[in-house]
Amino acid sequence: MRILVTGGTGFIGSHTIVELLGAGHEVVALDNLCNSSKTVLDRIETITGKRVPFAKGDIRDAAFLDEVFGSAHFDCVIHFAGLKAVGESVGKPLEYYDNNVNGTLVLLNAMRMHGVRSIIFSSSATVYGEAKTLPLTEDMPHGEVTNPYGRTKLIIEDILSDLYRADPSWNVILLRYFNPIGAHQSGLIGESPLGIPNNLMPYITQVAIGKLPELGVFGDDYDTPDGSCQRDYIHVVDLAKGHVAALKALKSSGNLQVYNLGTGTPTSVLELVKAFEKATGVEVPYSIKPRRAGDLAACWADASKAERDLGWKTQYGIEDMCADSWRWQRQNPEGYPEE
Ligand code: NAD
Ligand code: UFG
Repeated sequence: MRILVTGGTGFIGSHTIVELLGAGHEVVALDNLCNSSKTVLDRIETITGKRVPFAKGDIRDAAFLDEVFGSAHFDCVIHFAGLKAVGESVGKPLEYYDNNVNGTLVLLNAMRMHGVRSIIFSSSATVYGEAKTLPLTEDMPHGEVTNPYGRTKLIIEDILSDLYRADPSWNVILLRYFNPIGAHQSGLIGESPLGIPNNLMPYITQVAIGKLPELGVFGDDYDTPDGSCQRDYIHVVDLAKGHVAALKALKSSGNLQVYNLGTGTPTSVLELVKAFEKATGVEVPYSIKPRRAGDLAACWADASKAERDLGWKTQYGIEDMCADSWRWQRQNPEGYPEE
């Protein structure tokens, strides 16, 4: 199949492109580079031996999209492009709604105009809100989401569901990611956050390499086995393979499906620190800090639907995730080089 990957130079997009190429698909990467680097394309070429055509531009630019969709027929769009910083979204709601929601509307219009009706969308476990029971299953109703970023995911899920209801010839797959970490085993591509990381794993690797003095563990008084928050960390390569499996399951007639992509196993913050130290032999100094506002105590997936329908399940464990995150950090202490 020929696939347009929006957000293709980003963290999850780049790993997904590697897996798509490995599975024999043709790919065009689209990105405005607001949170990624063109160097990713060189790294993908080193890993796969293939140069991915790149369309540099913004998904909110209808004329640009018209050109991209006019240049070739695409069988499906995998839509990663979006802003994703929870904290930033609270201060910049209009930017988040414009980029994520308006951007998706412009993209969907361009797809419709060019007769492309298959889309795989990057949603998030954040749409479940505070869980009443765990693990989370896809049929649980949307929960209360406490920030604009999460709300953009809810709104886009609703837009895609309405679109499918109005025109059942659309093929829509909503993938709800849990916590992607890790990096490609080559150490050539990985997560390259700007400034001080918000997320746990990049914070840990930056402490381990000495860029940051210590990790703050946000709360040890939650109602969890060791008091720190539990999450479902998933290796980004497993996550990427989930997209290849979803593509295979796309029907030729219309369909709307939702899948959790997680491991089904919770890991606490303190357990992740221990696993990292065990996998890498590097100590991670930490101290207990107050709870971070808006954090859920625990969140993990029931991933059995994806296994049943897509034949997909995760292969990598928590120590693989730590070892691969560390390799990426060590080989690229400053992230991707400036162009
Ligand atoms: P990322 O920031 O590394 O990748 C997103 C890419 O989209 C970046 O390369 C950015 O430059 C590009 N982009 C942003 N706005 C754009 C626009 N208007 N036009 C064109 N390109 C644009 O993030 P990621 O971690 O790879 O996440 C990919 C997707 O998965 C996002 O939609 C994110 O919300 C979703 N997601 C991520 C996580 C996570 O923890 N990483 C969890 C759940 C869902
Ligand atoms: N944490 C720390 N110290 C840090 C950073 C994080 O203790 O320096 C803790 C957090 O309190 C949380 C856990 O580590 O308990 C994981 O935090 P992350 O920020 O890595 O991930 P979240 O689960 O908070 O958020 C992630 C994505 C969001 C998404 C959400 C739900 O970053 O985009 O999952 O899917 F909305």
